[in-house]
Amino acid sequence: MYNYSRYNNTFRLFGFDFNRNCLLYQRRDPWVKQYYFLPFSIDVKGFMNTSQHAISVEQLHKSFGDNQVLKGINLTADRGEVISVLGSSGSGKSTLLRCMNLLEIPNSGIVRVAGEEVLIKKNRKGENQPADMKQVERIRSKLAMVFQQFNLWAHMTILDNVMEAPVHVLRQRRAEVRERAIHYLNKVGIGDKLNAYPIHLSGGQQQRAAIARALCIEPEVILFDEPTSALDPELVGEVLQVMRDLADEGRTMIVVTHEMGFAREVSSRTIFLEQGLIIEDGTSQQVFDAPKTERFKTFIAAMM
Ligand SMILES: Nc1ncnc2c1ncn2[C@@H]1O[C@H](COP(=O)(O)OP(=O)(O)OP(=O)(O)O)[C@@H](O)[C@H]1O
Ligand SMILES: [Mg+2]
Repeated sequence: MYNYSRYNNTFRLFGFDFNRNCLLYQRRDPWVKQYYFLPFSIDVKGFMNTSQHAISVEQLHKSFGDNQVLKGINLTADRGEVISVLGSSGSGKSTLLRCMNLLEIPNSGIVRVAGEEVLIKKNRKGENQPADMKQVERIRSKLAMVFQQFNLWAHMTILDNVMEAPVHVLRQRRAEVRERAIHYLNKVGIGDKLNAYPIHLSGGQQQRAAIARALCIEPEVILFDEPTSALDPELVGEVLQVMRDLADEGRTMIVVTHEMGFAREVSSRTIFLEQGLIIEDGTSQQVFDAPKTERFKTFIAAMM
């Protein structure tokens, strides 16, 4: 057992918590004179993070007032997995994604990103909030979100939109980010629109720019919330093709979608949410060819 003393406090290395990726110390407080555990947050990513799970949620509950939206969701995305999330309007799909990237704080349950558990505490009103804002920033830098309405800044060029988060939030070097942004804009097929403003692009091109923006933060997971729902039908294909290419590259993606073809052919796994619970979960082939619930059968019949 390794021991050292500092300012009359004794810290003793107790072990390693593989779930939280942190060292556990036992600390003797000279005033209280008792031992308790002190999780010592050391970022061990890179040499000790062996977790295959890119993101997971456990027993996730989320309510808005009396409206219980998520009622105990368990979902794990392994690295390289593409999961389609289906469900009727109001079933809680967007809320699930928003809880995953901490735009909403769950009432209870655990969210883990790349093996790191999001730490939650109660504020004075008894509401849940993140315990460590530095951790939230770190976790958000590992997740990217693509929205239905693109959410590009209208007053910035496409290139500046893509560079914004890496330069201003992640504080990466401008020259490096610029090179990477151009690379990803070329990859999604709009390398000729660097200096255009969003208003001068079609919906499909704007959504591809939003995907380049997501890629430019080099996230562990990309969360898509109905990325093609706001597009004219003839523009849906070009965005789906980009997403298909990302799936082929082995990127981890969670995609809320109404595109049954994408769910069935591109995603490795499909889940179906109904009133805040997952009622179908399996390989896309299993779920589409042999659904377990009558509810999903009616859902796909209505979508076809
Ligand atoms: N910020 C919020 N405040 C209050 N209620 C909310 C909030 N966000 C979502 N809700 C409610 O939670 C429920 C689920 O909403 P959510 O947006 O997750 O559904 P969805 O499955 O994404 O639906 P859609 O397919 O229409 O996008 C709805 O009843 C909605 O009104
Ligand atoms: Mg939604």
